[in-house]
Amino acid sequence: MKIINKALFSYFGNKDRESKQIMENLPDMNNIDIVIEPYCGSFSLIRNLILLYPDKKYICVDNDKKLIQAYNDIIDDDKYNKILNNLKNTEIKTKEEYDIYRKINTTESYIYYNSVYTIRPGLFNRQKIKMNDNNLSKLETFNKYNKNIEFICDDAKNIIEEYKNNDRVFMFIDPPYLLNNIYDSTHRSDYILNFIKDFNNCNCKIIAVLGNHVLLKVFYEHYCLNIKFTTEIKFQNHHNIDKIPYIANY
Ligand SMILES: C[S@@+](CC[C@H](N)C(=O)[O-])C[C@H]1O[C@@H](n2cnc3c(N)ncnc32)[C@H](O)[C@@H]1O
Repeated sequence: MKIINKALFSYFGNKDRESKQIMENLPDMNNIDIVIEPYCGSFSLIRNLILLYPDKKYICVDNDKKLIQAYNDIIDDDKYNKILNNLKNTEIKTKEEYDIYRKINTTESYIYYNSVYTIRPGLFNRQKIKMNDNNLSKLETFNKYNKNIEFICDDAKNIIEEYKNNDRVFMFIDPPYLLNNIYDSTHRSDYILNFIKDFNNCNCKIIAVLGNHVLLKVFYEHYCLNIKFTTEIKFQNHHNIDKIPYIANY
């Protein structure tokens, strides 16, 4: 049976569907000791790689403090057992109860919110709401397969700067898409736009997925960036299929 290291939450922008194509375009893994996802989210790529290459070092970075706290708590066996027990015994029946629970700043409340509440509209029409077996099995899988990952809460640029000249490192760079939402400053990353100009001079191996905005395409050509492969994405509200370029420096 194929082992699947499932994502803990249905993560916006995850690369689960694309991971087969990404896996087919890896650098020579014999020459890689450390794999880094500087914008990890649900770290689709490392979730696959860790099963195939369990002896490498893996580092996942995200600036979402609660996400990284939850990951670190779940891979710690003592904390995991307590969390599991607490979640199994949590039943929230009304919106008012839920609003109170949500404000408690614990990993349990974060997991509950992201596993149960956000996925099921109409939740509070039901009598008792608990984590179901599917949610609980994702927790168990997470604890089992991801213990050897170092999860760090930080700005991506720090880890990129630290490792960009290490030739035994492979980075998968998947920031919120650049320039797609040009008027929303939270979706822009001046650091990454500057960094990719340097891309071909770094010693580490990199795949980056930065979006398919027309200005980015001009940028790629101008800086002679190598589009290694493209994946297809179908947006929910229109029927067009967009091709998303994946840039590599090898
Ligand atoms: C497109 S998602 C990554 C998806 C991921 N590849 C996956 O498989 O789930 C981008 C992630 O970058 C994180 N992020 C945004 N800005 C960041 C920054 N400056 N430093 C580190 N992480 C950041 C977000 O919290 C989000 O989890």
